Amino acid sequence: MLADKTVEKIGAMMKVQPDRHSAVMGALWAVQQDGKGYLTRGDLEEISKILKIAPVEVQAAATFYTMYNVVDPVGKYHIQVCRNISCWLLGAEKIIAHIEKVLDVKIGGTTADKRFSLKTVECLGSCGTAPMMQINDDYYENLTFESVDQILKNLL
Ligand code: FES
Repeated sequence: MLADKTVEKIGAMMKVQPDRHSAVMGALWAVQQDGKGYLTRGDLEEISKILKIAPVEVQAAATFYTMYNVVDPVGKYHIQVCRNISCWLLGAEKIIAHIEKVLDVKIGGTTADKRFSLKTVECLGSCGTAPMMQINDDYYENLTFESVDQILKNLL
C-alpha cells in the first residue's frame, strides 16, 4: 500500500500533465524513492489504478528504464556499472570484476549484509568520463581500482 504522501505526489503530477500516461515515470520514481528503493508488482498495480491506465503500460515503463528497480529488492547502495562501448573500451569489465571481488558479490546479486547490490547497465550518458558507475542517484566517473576502493570505503 502506497503512503499517503506518495499518492498525493502522484495526484499533483496528474494535475499538471496533459495526459495521464505522462505521469507514469514521475509516479514510478516517487513510489521508489518514498518507499523501499525498489518497486514491487503490487506497487505497479497501484500506480496503474491511480493513473487509470493499463498495468502493462506501467510495467513497460518500469522495466525499460534502468533507474527503476522492479521486483528485485536492492541493497542500501545500488551499484550500476556501465558496460557499454566507451566504458568497455576503458576497462569496465575489470572494474566490474574488481567490485565483485572487493564486495564478494556477483553481478545481479546483493551482499549478505544487504548493503550493496551490483548490476551492469547500458550507457548512462557519461561516455566522456568512462569508465563510470552510478550508485543510487550519484555518478562516479573516470573509475580506477583505487577510486572504486575509496568510493566503496566511504559507503561502509
Ligand atoms: S558507454 Fe558508459 S556511459 Fe556511455
